[in-house]
Amino acid sequence: RNAKMAAIIERYKDKVSTLPKQESWMNMDVYKYQGFWYHQGFWYHGANFSVEAVMAAQDDLKAKPTDVFLASHPKSGTTWLKALAYAIMTRTKFKIDLASNLTHPLLTISPHDCVPFIETDSFLINPSYNNGLMATHIPYNSLPESIINSGCRIVYVCRNPKDVFVSFWHFINGLNDDASTSVSLKDAFEIFSSGISPHGPIWDHVIGYHKASLERPDKVLFLNYEEMQKDANNEVKNLAKFLGYPFTEEEEATGKVEEIIKLCSFDNLREVNKPNKDGDETSTVVSDEAFFRKGKVGDSINYLTTEMIQILDKITKEKYDGLDISI
Ligand code: A3P
Repeated sequence: RNAKMAAIIERYKDKVSTLPKQESWMNMDVYKYQGFWYHQGFWYHGANFSVEAVMAAQDDLKAKPTDVFLASHPKSGTTWLKALAYAIMTRTKFKIDLASNLTHPLLTISPHDCVPFIETDSFLINPSYNNGLMATHIPYNSLPESIINSGCRIVYVCRNPKDVFVSFWHFINGLNDDASTSVSLKDAFEIFSSGISPHGPIWDHVIGYHKASLERPDKVLFLNYEEMQKDANNEVKNLAKFLGYPFTEEEEATGKVEEIIKLCSFDNLREVNKPNKDGDETSTVVSDEAFFRKGKVGDSINYLTTEMIQILDKITKEKYDGLDISI
């Protein structure tokens, strides 16, 4: 595994050396590539995200027309979307029985194990991970060409940037037990609002997919974390339809939609992904529980100062001006 990834890193060494580089969160370097910042050597659910992996995905990924890609800026509801799409698409294969706690994969393993990220070393060196449903944090304009050319369906989830920031800050600090390397909210805020955060600027990330959803509505579905919280039933039905797995009248009448919502609910997934299930966590590998903090809309108000709120709201308003993106 390491040798293959080392070969990928070597392959893009020259290209990476020409990229603008900046220090970002927790002393982590980020590289600017095609308008976005990427972190280097960042372990995330046992998979390594890096700019080289993005380049390798661009060069090597051969998408099939039937493939589905779930896209997001980190901390926007990726884990939830993975669980929902996976549960929808596999619902005739697996029995959902919350009481027995046995049958459905989402009752025993993380949504990240069910739906792999394409720009990670574990995916790139093991293409058998391609089970038709994959995820990515790569911005729309940098997606591997075959995803667009093959006409694959893409689902994007967007979230209010203030909540994304607070979620991201907790997540980054949670990566390391060592308090001395933790990043203060103030410092993290400066980095995030300047756009130099991993996969940032968040606004450009969102706008790319939003525009694509307007240009290619049959191929790109744009979802909103807040809407999903407000009206999960409607959003899940809509998602199932877009994915080509619409709920039948009978399924709706017998509570299948509600069953899937419950299976993928924050409380249920958090319970399944409780810490130390496999006992092999290290400080550089993100544990499953890190993806389930509060799962609320508007929690950022409990952390940000009035000034911080004004700054982020102003940037967001300016960036999304004229676009129908609810925040
Ligand atoms: P908070 O930190 O605000 O709680 P991502 O999956 O993109 O990394 O995003 C993580 C955010 O989604 C976290 O937000 C997390 O708690 C929330 N989340 C995870 N699973 C969820 C679920 N099933 N329902 C709602 N929110 C969920």
